[in-house]
Amino acid sequence: MPQETTAAPPVVKIDGITKGFPNRKKGFQRIVAETNVDIQEGEFITIIGPSGCGKSTILKMLAGLESVDEGAILLEGEPITAPSRQLGIVFQQHVLLPWMSARQNVVFALETEPGSTSTKEELRERADKYLDLVNLSHAADQRPSQLSGGMQQRVGIARAFALEPKVMLLDEPLGALDALTRHELQLQLLRLCEQQKRTFIMVTHDVDEALLLSDRILVMGSGPNAEIIHDITVPFGRPRDAETVEQDAKYHELRSFLLGSLTSH
Ligand SMILES: Nc1ncnc2c1ncn2[C@@H]1O[C@H](COP(=O)(O)OP(=O)(O)O)[C@@H](O)[C@H]1O
Ligand SMILES: [Mg+2]
Repeated sequence: MPQETTAAPPVVKIDGITKGFPNRKKGFQRIVAETNVDIQEGEFITIIGPSGCGKSTILKMLAGLESVDEGAILLEGEPITAPSRQLGIVFQQHVLLPWMSARQNVVFALETEPGSTSTKEELRERADKYLDLVNLSHAADQRPSQLSGGMQQRVGIARAFALEPKVMLLDEPLGALDALTRHELQLQLLRLCEQQKRTFIMVTHDVDEALLLSDRILVMGSGPNAEIIHDITVPFGRPRDAETVEQDAKYHELRSFLLGSLTSH
């Protein structure tokens, strides 16, 4: 009997996808086993799993940068087959243009957006708004070489957010930073994401980061032919703050569970 549901249609539907690559020894190796996930508008989803299990591959398929072998990924019901402005991406390392200031880097990304009808002044205002949201107003006129690694990453985040995509994809966005800067940026990202009310899909290998930021954590098993072995709802309310989350007994329970499921594979 068909199940009755009143839930809104998912903004992103991962519908029976699989993915593999040519392999020298085996001819072809399946990397991602059949995967089905429904993602609702406004959810913050984290994908976590052992290195090499296929997390970035899934994110690239979501971004339209990599094709699926079977199944489909739908954005508001339409298959994703190519990159689109509805899908923003933040990578671990940003390529900022070294001869441009932080502001010019963001404006440049906005200018090259297809179909943009905004004036230069409007783009500048939008760039400044997003630089302000990552606390970089004071550094807007500085070039990347004048900024620390953490500040450069914040310019990259501001640039991706300024494009105002429907879905933001983040692949270990804080992975290249030292522990202190990383924690600071986690808190900033938390605040930014809660203000933005977009849909977020992030890959990380940091269990604490996943618990702090997400509404749901998808845990992948080890590859090849990796599958999602757990789909965990994170029970902390919003807006969140790190201290309250870290003092919650459920945080420690989930943390041990996640660490256990990552090391037992
Ligand atoms: N373009 C490609 N060609 C061949 N193999 C690839 C390609 N992209 C990824 N892989 C392989 O797929 C597996 C998963 O890679 P990846 O998605 O980057 O893992 P993760 O992000 O989880 O660490 C790895 O074994 C990797 O070597
Ligand atoms: Mg990866």
